[in-house]
Amino acid sequence: MIVAIDGPAASGKGTLAKRVAVHYGLPHLDTGLLYRAVARDALAQGIDLDDAGTAAKVASGLQVATLDDPALRTVGAGEAASRVARHPAVRTALLAYQRSFANRADGAVLDGRDIGTVICPDADVKLFVNASAEVRAMRRFLELTGRGIAVSEASVLADIRARDERDLTRGSAPLVQAPDAVLLETSNLDIDAAFRAAIDLIEAAMSCAGRAG
Ligand code: DC
Repeated sequence: MIVAIDGPAASGKGTLAKRVAVHYGLPHLDTGLLYRAVARDALAQGIDLDDAGTAAKVASGLQVATLDDPALRTVGAGEAASRVARHPAVRTALLAYQRSFANRADGAVLDGRDIGTVICPDADVKLFVNASAEVRAMRRFLELTGRGIAVSEASVLADIRARDERDLTRGSAPLVQAPDAVLLETSNLDIDAAFRAAIDLIEAAMSCAGRAG
């Protein structure tokens, strides 16, 4: 079973995807980490993030073993990632790895922005996780301050809005709900309730597919 989970920054899709993967015993790929790692490597090499050709070369040479680097989890890394993610050549360079991860024998759970639309258009289940920008900013604010990082609520909301703008308006694989994805609106749900709702939607989609097949 392939589960595709897309949504905007700080929508909770990553936490949800991780829990869904554990629940079904499937491997999980947080595809945002790929773009974050490309930006990290480009910056380390002094490459301009707006230089598509050079950023694509960095993406082609990406070592996926470095995806557990804690430096990828910062606000700055997410911002830099959204800049390299605009380049079609960067996206193309990361496509094969994501597809081969998804097509493992038992299946996989992938989360990102374009999983249901581009990476796995034939996924068995597609969820689009969303929440208002204010709710997402508050969650991110609590997460960052909980980790001892000093930020203001206003600056976190401004970052979320800037990232939404970049992810929604880029020409290549913009963030959009796939026509056959189910919307999971989590503004009024905590993580446990969102998880239960996700499992219900996945079970419903799988039993529908079973009946159709
Ligand atoms: O999910 P995240 O916040 O870690 O993603 C960081 C950035 O990477 C995001 O702003 C846009 C980009 N991204 C993307 O373009 N496509 C994906 N499948 C995942 C992330």
